[in-house]
Amino acid sequence: MCGIVGYIGARKVQDVVLEGLRKLEYRGYDSAGIATLDHKTIRISKSLGRMANLEDKLVTEPATGTIGIGHTRWATHGRPSDENAHPHQDCSGRFAIVHNGIVENYLTLRDELTAKGHQFESETDTEVVAHLIEDLYNGDLFSTMVNVAKHIRGAYALVVLSKDHPDMLIALRKSSPLIIGLGEHENFVASDIPAILEYTRDVYVLDDGEMAVVRQNGVECFSLEGTPVHKDVYQVTWDAVSAERGGYPHFMLKEIHEQPKAIRDTLTGRLSEDGRRVVLSELTWSKSYTKAVDRIQIVACGTSWHAGLVGKAVIEKLARIPVEVEIGSEYRYRDPIQTENTLVIVISQSGETADTLAGLREAKARGRRVLAITNVVGSSVAREADDVIITWAGPEIAVASTKAYTTQLIALYLLAAYFAQERETQEPDKLKEIISALGNLPQVAEQVLDTAPQIEEFAQTYKGAADTFFIGRSLDYSVAMEGALKLKEISYIHAEAYAAGELKHGTLALITEGVPVIALATQPELYEKTVSNIKEVKARDAFVLGMAWVGDEELEKSVDEVIYLPATLPLLAPIAAVIPLQLLAYYAAVARGNDVDKPRNLAKSVTVE
Ligand code: M6R
Repeated sequence: MCGIVGYIGARKVQDVVLEGLRKLEYRGYDSAGIATLDHKTIRISKSLGRMANLEDKLVTEPATGTIGIGHTRWATHGRPSDENAHPHQDCSGRFAIVHNGIVENYLTLRDELTAKGHQFESETDTEVVAHLIEDLYNGDLFSTMVNVAKHIRGAYALVVLSKDHPDMLIALRKSSPLIIGLGEHENFVASDIPAILEYTRDVYVLDDGEMAVVRQNGVECFSLEGTPVHKDVYQVTWDAVSAERGGYPHFMLKEIHEQPKAIRDTLTGRLSEDGRRVVLSELTWSKSYTKAVDRIQIVACGTSWHAGLVGKAVIEKLARIPVEVEIGSEYRYRDPIQTENTLVIVISQSGETADTLAGLREAKARGRRVLAITNVVGSSVAREADDVIITWAGPEIAVASTKAYTTQLIALYLLAAYFAQERETQEPDKLKEIISALGNLPQVAEQVLDTAPQIEEFAQTYKGAADTFFIGRSLDYSVAMEGALKLKEISYIHAEAYAAGELKHGTLALITEGVPVIALATQPELYEKTVSNIKEVKARDAFVLGMAWVGDEELEKSVDEVIYLPATLPLLAPIAAVIPLQLLAYYAAVARGNDVDKPRNLAKSVTVE
C-alpha cells in the first residue's frame, strides 16, 4: 500500500529513487512521483499511472541532485491523478513529503489549516501533513516533526525533505512499515527491503512510534517523542537476485515454480533426522502450555485466510483442538469469545497487513498468547507476536500470493502434527506416516508443475468465460476458494467457490451450457458424493475440469477433462491441488493480456484498514 524511497549520498538521486520505486511497485501503481533537492530548490515530478509514465517525464526534465524522496501510490483518499500523486508540498514549497498510510484526522486538520490561509491542491490526507509542517515549523526540522507527530492520528510512514535542511531526511513510522538502509557515506529510506538491496544489506527496521534523522554519514533513531533509541543492525540474508524475475516473464510464474524449493526450505530443520518427528524449536511456550491449549483462533486476510481454513481442518483432525478461522477485518469488532488458554494464530505473508495486525493487537490486549506465521523476518507481526514460525518462501513480489500460501500450509501442517505428537492424539504410526509424507512434498510440488502445458491449453480455450465455478468438499472446498480468488484477482473472470453439496441450494441456477466448473475430488471419503455433485452440473451442460489422484480412472467418465495429481496423502492434497489452480489463473490472465504481477486496483501489502 504505497511504496516510499528516500536517498541521501553521492549518487544521482533520480537513479536510486526510480530503481527503488520499481522494486516497490508491487505496493501500489496508481501514480508515482519524485522530489529532489538541488541548489536550494525542491523539484517535483509526478505522473498518473505506472512508473513508466514518470520515467518518460524525467527524460526531458531530469530530477537532479543527490538527496530526494519518491513514492508509488495505491490510492485511498483521492482518486488516482497527477494532483493526488505524491510527493506533496506546503504553500511555500519549503517541504516535500511522501506518505504511506491514512491520516485519520485529516479533515479536521484541513479545516483548521484552511482557516489559517493554507491552500490545498489535492484531495489527499497526505497534503495536510505538508501544510501542518509549514504551520508548526520553528526553524528546527527535528523538533517540528516531533510536534507534527503529536497532531496527527492514524497510520503513517512519512519521509520529509526540506530545502532549509539539505543535509537530512526525516522519516517517521507509526503502523506502516519503514526501514533505513545503511550504506557507506550514503543512506536510504524505504518501505521494504528490495528497494535498497542493490546497495546494502544492513538495515534498521524502525519500530512503531519511531523516527530517524538520516544524513549522508549517519543515522540517528528516536521515539516519536524525540527520545534517542538504540537500534540493532539487521542483516538481510537474501540477495537482490532472488527478488528479480530470473528469466521468467512474470514474478508470479517464477514464484509458482519456486514452490518446491520454498516448501523444502520451510520444512528444513523442522523434521527430525529420521523424518518422523516434528521439531519446532522456535516455539518458546512450555510443554504444559502445548497440552493446555483448548481453543485456537486463526486470524488472517485473503489468501492467508484461505490457508487458515486448511489449518483449521488439519489441526482439528490431528490434534483435536477446536479452531475458528477469522477474517482480520472482522475479528476485532466482534468481541470474540476466548478462554484463558486460547491460542491466537495470525497468518500474514507480509507481516504488515493492517487488519491482521489489528487482530494480533486485539488478542494481545485480551491477554492471549499469539503465534505468528509470516514470511518476513522483522515484520510487525513477527515482532509483536509471542512466537513466530517463519515461512522460508523468500521474497514474494507478485500481488497474487502463491508460494506464500503453500509455505503457510506447510507451517500449519507442522504445527498440527506437533500438537498431535505432544498431546498424543494420534496413533504414533499414523502420525509418522503423515510426517514422513510432509517431507516428500517438495517432490510432489515438483511433479505437479508438469501439469502446466495442459492448464495453459485449457486457459486458452476458456479465457473468454464470463463466470467460472470451483467446487469441492472438505479440504477441496478450502482449496477451491483459493483457486477462485486467484482467478478473479488476476484474470478478472468472475469466479465463485462452492462446497460441492451446497450448489443445489441456489447456485445451480447459474450453471448453463459451457460454463466452466473446476471440480476437485481428492478426498476419498467424500469422493462418491463429489462425483454426484459433478453429475449435477454435467446434467446442466457445464464444461467440467476435474482434479483427481493419478490412477483414478473413474473420474474421467464423469467430467470433460482431468488434471491428475501425483500421489500423496489426501490430508496433504491442498499443496498439490492448489498449484494447477495457480497456473490456471496465471495462464488465463496472460491469455487475456492482463498485467499479471500488478492486477488492477490491488496492492501487495495492505497496510490500511
Ligand atoms: O501479507 P498478507 O498475507 O497478510 O496479505 C493478505 C492478503 O492481502 C493477500 O493474501 C491477498 O489476498 C493476496 N493478494 C491474494 O493473492
